[in-house]
Amino acid sequence: MGYQTMLLFLLASLLLQILKINAKVPAIIVFGDSSVDSGNNNEISTVLKSNFEPYGRDFNGGQPTGRFSNGRIPTDFISEAFGIKPTIPPYLDPTYNITHFATGVCFASAGTGYDNATSDVLSVIPLWKEMQYYKEYQKTLRAYLGNEKANEVLGEALYLISIGTNDFLENYYLIPGRSSEYTIEEYQNFLAGIAKEFITELYQLGARKISIAGLPPMGCLPLERATNIFSGSDCVEKYNDVSKDFNEKLQEMVMELNKELAGMRLVFSNPYDILLDMIQDPNKFGFEDAVTACCGTGFFEMSYLCDNVNPFTCSDANSYVFWDSFHPTEKTNQIVADHVVKTCLAEFL
Ligand SMILES: *[C@@H]1O[C@H](CO)[C@@H](O)[C@H](O)[C@H]1NC(C)=O
Ligand SMILES: *[C@@H]1O[C@H](CO)[C@@H](O)[C@H](O)[C@H]1NC(C)=O
Repeated sequence: MGYQTMLLFLLASLLLQILKINAKVPAIIVFGDSSVDSGNNNEISTVLKSNFEPYGRDFNGGQPTGRFSNGRIPTDFISEAFGIKPTIPPYLDPTYNITHFATGVCFASAGTGYDNATSDVLSVIPLWKEMQYYKEYQKTLRAYLGNEKANEVLGEALYLISIGTNDFLENYYLIPGRSSEYTIEEYQNFLAGIAKEFITELYQLGARKISIAGLPPMGCLPLERATNIFSGSDCVEKYNDVSKDFNEKLQEMVMELNKELAGMRLVFSNPYDILLDMIQDPNKFGFEDAVTACCGTGFFEMSYLCDNVNPFTCSDANSYVFWDSFHPTEKTNQIVADHVVKTCLAEFL
């Protein structure tokens, strides 16, 4: 290599290095429901909690945290994949402060939804309140890092939103109200509209890298299958169709917003196919059971019904796709997170 070529080469790799440093995600900021709540519900008055055994049985050697799983949840694995930290602390937990939240914070609340009426069902944190907490967090972060550095972190951070299942299963199809007001399609449009407003507000507050997650195959959650007992506990196709339809609406909304909001990179993270694959062919992934959950009888237990005196809880959660009747095991969460990082979030790595 000649001297000039060498110099050019060095300059080019230096430039690449700089670009890489600038592209680094300094923090992960999470909004949503139990799919990503790392323990905020421990701090509020609701019956929807999981800060007791056997939850967390495989978390850091056995530690219930308020995560609805036997171990970590997808956002923890995503944080780790981005070279940040192995777990994302919940905003309301007083044992953490801004020194921890500066690299990742979770505002999610189990049982919540896009719709205010959903968070009312079990008295959990509504999505608008998660946004208020985020605004409060911005102030604390600016006081801690200074304006310039804080704005840089807020702009380069990756925002993860995962919510929506409860709007259908805990609200629309369970209690009267929304179902007499809206057809299912109207309700989906109503929710997608809230999602759009939420993301637009995040953008106005400085967020630029955002992922919004789609719904899982809701009809295959053990709780829903258990109601299908006369059809051999098959997945409830009606609910899976709602998931697919709603995911399509979200995907369209993502395309629109990417055109409307300059400089934003919004991605749609779809867990549907990988989860359905695990449910239909559990052996391929090293699971033995995808129909019933590990906890209790595996058909209906979650939250306080999934406790340590239940004699039926399985001994090896790794052979189950689902931990309780509504939530995946840590192993499933890891597979979903790996998949989402590779297919949807890779551009932010
Ligand atoms: C945050 O918590 C740590 C302990 O985990 C403590 O040492 C530190 O002083 C606290 N910082 C602030 C700013 O409160
Ligand atoms: C939900 O409630 C908040 C607070 O009362 C309100 O600002 C917001 O407009 C409501 N959202 C919808 C879609 O009704």
